[in-house]
Amino acid sequence: ADEETDTVERALTVATEAAKAAGEPLRELHGQVESIDIKTDKSDIVTEADHQADRIITTVIRNEFPDHAVFSEEGARQRGADSDYTWVIDPLDGTGNFAHGNPNYSISVALVEDGKPVMGVVYVPETDELFSGIAGKGVWRDGDPIGTTDRDQLDESMLISGYDPDGTFLSHFYQESRGVRRLGSAALNLCYLASGSADAVWEHDTYPWDIAAGLVIAREAGATVTDQAGDPYEFNFDTEDRAALLGSNGSLHSALLEHLEESVTTPSR
Ligand code: IPD
Ligand code: CA
Ligand code: CA
Ligand code: CA
Repeated sequence: ADEETDTVERALTVATEAAKAAGEPLRELHGQVESIDIKTDKSDIVTEADHQADRIITTVIRNEFPDHAVFSEEGARQRGADSDYTWVIDPLDGTGNFAHGNPNYSISVALVEDGKPVMGVVYVPETDELFSGIAGKGVWRDGDPIGTTDRDQLDESMLISGYDPDGTFLSHFYQESRGVRRLGSAALNLCYLASGSADAVWEHDTYPWDIAAGLVIAREAGATVTDQAGDPYEFNFDTEDRAALLGSNGSLHSALLEHLEESVTTPSR
């Protein structure tokens, strides 16, 4: 168990180093992206900066942990065997914002052990903020402990919506809450929930790399994270299917679920 603790704690140091190193070229390229590559459609894009960040993060991790598997949105797609460690990386979360010069984007680096995210780092290059967490050990922003809110009234709550293609979350909760924000980085949305600047977050569907790190950070900060039916969110990178995610401070969860259960059609995996 001690060896395990050592690995996870060392992983946090390495993830921090890797994310900060990758943040440098992103800061330099931000606001001057010249070429945007379409992956599957007009809003599914990638830039040279995404690839550059991926290379930096992967290199740092492979140097420090040559035996670990690396699974990245824009690069390696290795999955560790059952008891192995796998790094799950989103080198640039919020590429749309980044490519259009908006500062709301992040870098997400997580360590998965036996299929469960155990350590997560989310770095925000433009503000130099670093969110980090280790399951069962603590969660921090720039080294200071963070936690969710305890607000239990929807009409006093600030909500964040991720991808919401049918507009259900926005159209219903915009009226019921203090506000619904649509920001653009799923990883960072979970950190806002974890640090109390949002009371709940909704993603109609996300990929595992979007939320691996944010999941550790949000849960360790006291958040409840489920699917749209209220069952605990199950992290799964065996398939690349997307899944719905509702995260909240816990107190608001049932009020949010009540509406989502009856009105949202989400892909099931
Ligand atoms: C996207 C962002 C966005 C979310 C999308 C993701 P990317 O990730 O997290 O906020 O709504 O579902 O795909 O492509 O910018 O890494
Ligand atoms: Ca993407
Ligand atoms: Ca992403
Ligand atoms: Ca990405």
